[in-house]
Amino acid sequence: MNIYTLQNEEAFVQTAAGLITGLVTSRPRAKLGLATGSTPVGLYAKLIQMHNNGLVSFAGVTTYNLDEYVGLPENHSESYRTFMNEKLFNHVDINMERTFVPNGNAADLEEECRSYDRMLDENGPVDLQLLGIGHNGHIGFNEPGTDLSGGTHVVPLQEETRLANARFFDSLDEVPTHAITMGVASIMKSRQILLLIRGEDKAEIAHRALTGPITTQCPASLLQCHPNVVVLLDEGAGRYFR
Ligand code: F6R
Repeated sequence: MNIYTLQNEEAFVQTAAGLITGLVTSRPRAKLGLATGSTPVGLYAKLIQMHNNGLVSFAGVTTYNLDEYVGLPENHSESYRTFMNEKLFNHVDINMERTFVPNGNAADLEEECRSYDRMLDENGPVDLQLLGIGHNGHIGFNEPGTDLSGGTHVVPLQEETRLANARFFDSLDEVPTHAITMGVASIMKSRQILLLIRGEDKAEIAHRALTGPITTQCPASLLQCHPNVVVLLDEGAGRYFR
C-alpha cells in the first residue's frame, strides 16, 4: 500500500484528481469504479473544474458505482444515482449510458446483483476503484463480518451506518434499511484502488484498517492484500501516519 498524508484540502483533492485524470488521459476508455458519500465530493468538484478547463475528457469512460440504497426512487434526492448525476455526471462530457449504478428498485434484487456482476466480469476489470471508508471499516456497504468471496449482494445496513447517513435524510426512519453493494471480491478485482480517508473522526479506523490485522471484521483491512492500493489521508485522518 502507498499511504500519503496530505497537508490540506487542496492538496488532497488535487492528488486524487491527478491520479484519475492521469489514468483517463492515458486510457481514454478507462473503467472507473466510483463511490458516493461526503469524502469524494471535493474530488468530483475538482474533476468538473479540470474538465471545464479542458484538461480532461470523460467521453470514452465507463463508470460503475459501488452501491445503491434499496427502495429509494431513482430520482430521490438521496439516491446514489441522483448523487452521482448531481455531483459529477451532469457536469462532464460522460456518456450517461455508460454510467452504471446498481438498481435498488429492481423487482428481482437477486437477479439485479447477478446481472451487475456479469456486467463487471464481461467488461472488467475496473481500472481504478475509488473507495471511502465507514467508521466501522466498511467499504462499499460491506459491513464487518462480510463474506470475503462475495460478489454484488443485498445487505441489511448496520445501525451505525444508518445513523451516519441519517444526516442526509429528514429522520432516521427515512434512511433505507438495505442496500445493494458490490462485494469485496469484486472490489479486489480492480487493477488499482484509490482509498480516500478524510477527517479526524476517521483517524482510528484508518490506523486499524491500514496497519491492523487483516480481518473481515474490518473489511477495509482486506485491501492490505491488494497489490496496487493508493491511500490518501487528510491531516485529520492521518494523525497516526505523520
Ligand atoms: C459510498 C460507500 C461508502 C462510503 C463510506 C464513507 O458509495 O461505498 O462505503 O464510502 O460510508 O462515507 P463518507 O464519505 O460519507 O464518510
